[in-house]
Amino acid sequence: MTAHLTLTRIDKVFQRKPDLAERLAIRLGAPKPPAVRAVDDVTLSIQKGEAVGLVGESGCGKSTLGRIVAGIHAQTGGTLTFEGRDQPDWTAEEARRARLDIQMIFQDPMASLNPRKRVIDIVGEAPVVHGLMTRREREGEVGRLLREVGLDPAYSSRFPHQFSGGQRQRIGIARALAVQPKFLVCDESVAALDVSIQAQVLNLFMDLRERRGLTYLFISHDLGVIEHLTDRVAIMYLGRLVEVGPTADIFRSANHPYTQALLEEAPRIGRGRRAYKPLKGEIPSPLNPPSGCYFHTRCPLVMDICKTARPALRDIGPGRISACHLNDQS
Ligand SMILES: Nc1ncnc2c1ncn2[C@@H]1O[C@H](COP(=O)(O)OP(=O)(O)O)[C@@H](O)[C@H]1O
Ligand SMILES: [Mg+2]
Repeated sequence: MTAHLTLTRIDKVFQRKPDLAERLAIRLGAPKPPAVRAVDDVTLSIQKGEAVGLVGESGCGKSTLGRIVAGIHAQTGGTLTFEGRDQPDWTAEEARRARLDIQMIFQDPMASLNPRKRVIDIVGEAPVVHGLMTRREREGEVGRLLREVGLDPAYSSRFPHQFSGGQRQRIGIARALAVQPKFLVCDESVAALDVSIQAQVLNLFMDLRERRGLTYLFISHDLGVIEHLTDRVAIMYLGRLVEVGPTADIFRSANHPYTQALLEEAPRIGRGRRAYKPLKGEIPSPLNPPSGCYFHTRCPLVMDICKTARPALRDIGPGRISACHLNDQS
């Protein structure tokens, strides 16, 4: 079975543009402003219909990776393969279709909806532009989409500010669905909502998965959400994947010391929700990552080799990989 989406050795380096003074200094021999390797050699395959979670502390590169998948950022290196076709070989039509097939749902629905447009225009614009519905069909189709996400079709002439946060997120989902996507990248898509509303929107994502056969990359800092919603989970640390495997296996017995620390049960917040446990020690700066295993400065099991050699991602069980020198012993 070929994968739906494959990332092969993806890198993303952000090079900050030097300001005027820095440009002069560089001409006089000063070093360029430092580059951030936000995504570092990430390889990951996702099957059709799968829901894969992406977790890791703030700043580890989750959003950057999600944006590369959704075609919002171009990677610096590596290859994205969608439905068996490598991105560099895409025809113009394949590139256009991939941009529609892979849609991103953001955290803050207010920021991603144009406040001056009515719902009918927000939801109906892209599919008309791309010839997926005619202008005449628009009203009926937008009504159907609103119903599909649990909103009254009569709301289609309203503006975003007339809705609650949860309703606005549903409008964002309807807008994404309007172009008939196959793959949704959800980046903290329920994090800004009240807990009771979160559950409803998560249920909607699960219904849509069934109904439309959607595939998900689900970025969330909420472990309850990840455990509930995903089949597999990928754990990221300073731009690198450190462990990937079936969600149930990883929650039962994490292999990587970073995963273990992350999943160690955090104090329960509110109604039994779990977030990451704050780890001991500061996250090293991505501008200046440690040598060897990036996690060695905070790892309770650190050995000498961890300070010099980068551990490879190795098979450690069915469908499981982990990058830790402890797996290299014996
Ligand atoms: N557009 C950008 N320009 C420069 N640096 C960026 C940009 N976007 C993200 N970064 C940097 O890349 C790293 C990863 O960021 P991000 O992908 O947003 O992490 P996460 O979503 O896991 O919190 C951070 O160090 C961040 O400062
Ligand atoms: Mg982010």
